[in-house]
Amino acid sequence: MRNSPISAVRGVDLELDAGRTVALVGQSGSGKSTIARMIARLEKPSGGQILLNGHVAAVRGRGIREYRKQVQMVFQDPFASLNPFHTVAHHLERPLRRHGEDRSKAAARAKVEELLERVNLKPAAAFTERRPHELSGGQRQRVAIARALAPKPSVLIADEPVSMLDVSIRLGILHLLSRLQREENLAVLYITHDLATARHFSDEILVMYEGRVVERGAADEVILRPKAEFTRRLAEAAPEPGRNARFLSAAARYTAPGESK
Ligand SMILES: Nc1ncnc2c1ncn2[C@@H]1O[C@H](COP(=O)(O)OP(=O)(O)O)[C@@H](O)[C@H]1O
Ligand SMILES: [Mg+2]
Repeated sequence: MRNSPISAVRGVDLELDAGRTVALVGQSGSGKSTIARMIARLEKPSGGQILLNGHVAAVRGRGIREYRKQVQMVFQDPFASLNPFHTVAHHLERPLRRHGEDRSKAAARAKVEELLERVNLKPAAAFTERRPHELSGGQRQRVAIARALAPKPSVLIADEPVSMLDVSIRLGILHLLSRLQREENLAVLYITHDLATARHFSDEILVMYEGRVVERGAADEVILRPKAEFTRRLAEAAPEPGRNARFLSAAARYTAPGESK
């Protein structure tokens, strides 16, 4: 047994559909990022299949390039995911020139400002020449989101997109993701350890524990009538009773500046 491989994730089966959000919830180390990285093709699964639009996803050549365009990811740490030496414009021009219809520098330039406005970095011209250290954490994550949108993907994986941000700006970013999803009809995988936002921002919830899915179902169903012992513990672990209810009513009322719901 000593030499048998340890699996970070096992037997997980999930489907992402256009216009829907699936939340992957679980404590640290339960395998959420491993799933995200496998779907984004940043890690090779030792078994199993990935299908995109019903076809087995390519692993090389032109197919993998198309896959990478279609499946984009927003990472947990917006500082680590941006290059400190490059400007905001540079970060966005790269995917535009790699995947866009018109790959000229001029066309990419024009699109950069459009993308920045879509993530509420306005006026866009004030942000294009800045580098990551000249932005706040929330602004950096907005740039990372704009970069993910640049290739016009159909799937967006957001791996704990707000857990490293100041509590006061988290909802603004989640509402932004939710608006962009509607506008682009994206299939979204929202990874979090927070049941309250999982319920509010998702249609379906999958609860992970030690590399396996221990519960799945419609978001309200999983939160209101948890079946798995672990889900109940997760719900109870919320810092104080009633916190989720209060948070959710605040989330429902909340509208970030310039953010329509
Ligand atoms: N590259 C790696 N090498 C060895 N173990 C890893 C690696 N990546 C993840 N793991 C292990 O796999 C498990 C799942 O990790 P991860 O997917 O990052 O969990 P989560 O995102 O839910 O916190 C953890 O036990 C972690 O230590
Ligand atoms: Mg993780």
